[in-house]
Amino acid sequence: MENEKKKRIFSGVQPSGILTIGNYLGAIKNWVDFQDENDCIFCVVDLHAITVHQVPADLRRRTYETLAIYLACGIDPAKSTIFVQSHVPAHAELAWVLGCSTMFGELSRMTQFKDKSARNAGNVNAGLFTYPVLMAADILLYGTDLVPVGKDQQQHIEIARDIAIRFNQTYSDTFVVPEGFFPKSGAKIMSLADPTKKMSKSDANQNGFISLLDDRDTVMRKFRRAVTDSETEVRRAPGKEGVGNLMTIYSCFTGKTDAEIEEEFRGLGYGEFKEAVGAAAADGLAPLQARFKELMADKSYLEGIMKEGAEHANHIARKTLSKVYRKVGFVGL
Ligand code: TRP
Repeated sequence: MENEKKKRIFSGVQPSGILTIGNYLGAIKNWVDFQDENDCIFCVVDLHAITVHQVPADLRRRTYETLAIYLACGIDPAKSTIFVQSHVPAHAELAWVLGCSTMFGELSRMTQFKDKSARNAGNVNAGLFTYPVLMAADILLYGTDLVPVGKDQQQHIEIARDIAIRFNQTYSDTFVVPEGFFPKSGAKIMSLADPTKKMSKSDANQNGFISLLDDRDTVMRKFRRAVTDSETEVRRAPGKEGVGNLMTIYSCFTGKTDAEIEEEFRGLGYGEFKEAVGAAAADGLAPLQARFKELMADKSYLEGIMKEGAEHANHIARKTLSKVYRKVGFVGL
């Protein structure tokens, strides 16, 4: 074990809104557990965020908030590198080169592009189209072995792998071919308003998601309104996706198994169950929210973390980029 090389882990979140418990339980909570055994890099991907229009002042504030959320969730700057994407120019630079190894046809097949361009019909910009190339650059710059992300990002991981393999074949071995890591439990938290859809911070229906910063009353109210079914029994079964989703959330916050949850609420009905899920979520979020508030009150601390993270990330990224530039035949000075 001694000289077994640590795995490089890379992941990122867009600063495009306050994260939901879906992002937390499905992604960030798992990242925290990775930190001890691996070499982790976590990025706030602001370059990605501007593929849909952002009000500049909001983007700036959310970049701080996303960083503060990382820290409040337990990402530890003493163990992991945390940085903001636009502070490391190599991301945009490598994206250009990789774009020249990516086919129009393969980008056209990306379901996220199709979804987002349908939702933003008035702003189907080239950045939205080449988004996966920038994401591939993020990952490949750091010799990433594993990318922990939600299932919805699987297609983007696959294209990053394809781009890496193609570049390696054309120019000789350069990139580590990364793998996606999709957590089993809590990987997919569904909307409280429509349990067939993934919980999303960009959902127009505020009742569909629990933001990490929702106060206790809001959390309780949203869980009381959560869509279930016409039965009364707390169990996981087809047609009971709403109840199943609440069980997943309850399990993530309490550590209880499905069997334990079914036992606990046998004969009690949905009213009591929803109260319990709401209380568990509110209790689970309280310490995180307190820490978030402290961090947001100390911008210079957050800027210090950004600076340190950017320096370390830049160091690694520049090395990869110069290797790539050499391989493709650019003259170095
Ligand atoms: N596309 C990812 C999302 O929307 C965010 C992201 C950008 C990312 N670059 C990344 C995730 C690199 C993992 C690795 O969730």
